[in-house]
Amino acid sequence: MRPADADQVLAIYQHGLDTGHASFETVAPTWSDFDAAKLDRYRYVATGPEADSVLGWVAAGPVSDRCCYAGVIEHSVYVGPRARGLGIGAALLSTLIAATEADGIWTIQSGVFPENTASLRLHARAGFRTVGTRRRIGRLHGRWRDVVLLERRSPSVL
Ligand SMILES: CC(C)(COP(=O)(O)OP(=O)(O)OC[C@H]1O[C@@H](n2cnc3c(N)ncnc32)[C@H](O)[C@@H]1OP(=O)(O)O)[C@@H](O)C(=O)NCCC(=O)NCCS
Repeated sequence: MRPADADQVLAIYQHGLDTGHASFETVAPTWSDFDAAKLDRYRYVATGPEADSVLGWVAAGPVSDRCCYAGVIEHSVYVGPRARGLGIGAALLSTLIAATEADGIWTIQSGVFPENTASLRLHARAGFRTVGTRRRIGRLHGRWRDVVLLERRSPSVL
């Protein structure tokens, strides 16, 4: 993911938020806020036949400043509406997993709405387990929502 991808990344982000099942956020951040929150090493785009057309992205940020959690990150994955269901989310996630494991990152976590069956399936296939469901943890458009906490503990980072 390069700064030149910013507009497409944020447009895909907004499409995902518009589903109402991707995040509590309703408006995609500015590029500078997005850029500040995500680790440089763990942000990727999937491109189409033209290398500058972005189909989807994955990016991760740290979960804590505490050194005991230095190998724990939280990610987001978004695929554009016309490119969903083609394996792009799975490819992005496996790229993130390979890159983070190579660096010794031991846990990747994410929160997913239970209604987001595509995301739950995607993450289960990539080796994420369900830690638990946080009940009525936040409100989106005035409605209390549960969030399923997922994590993948790397089997190769010992
Ligand atoms: C969730 C999302 C990233 C999945 O990406 P994708 O590229 O469409 O997913 P893939 O094609 O790689 O499919 C991954 C798995 O999910 C399954 N899947 C995909 N879409 C699905 C759907 N609508 N319902 C149920 N399962 C679905 C696929 O069949 C596949 O499972 P399989 O390997 O057993 O066949 C994508 O739908 C998306 O961007 N949604 C909007 C934003 C969002 O919700 N992001 C996640 C926030 S937690």
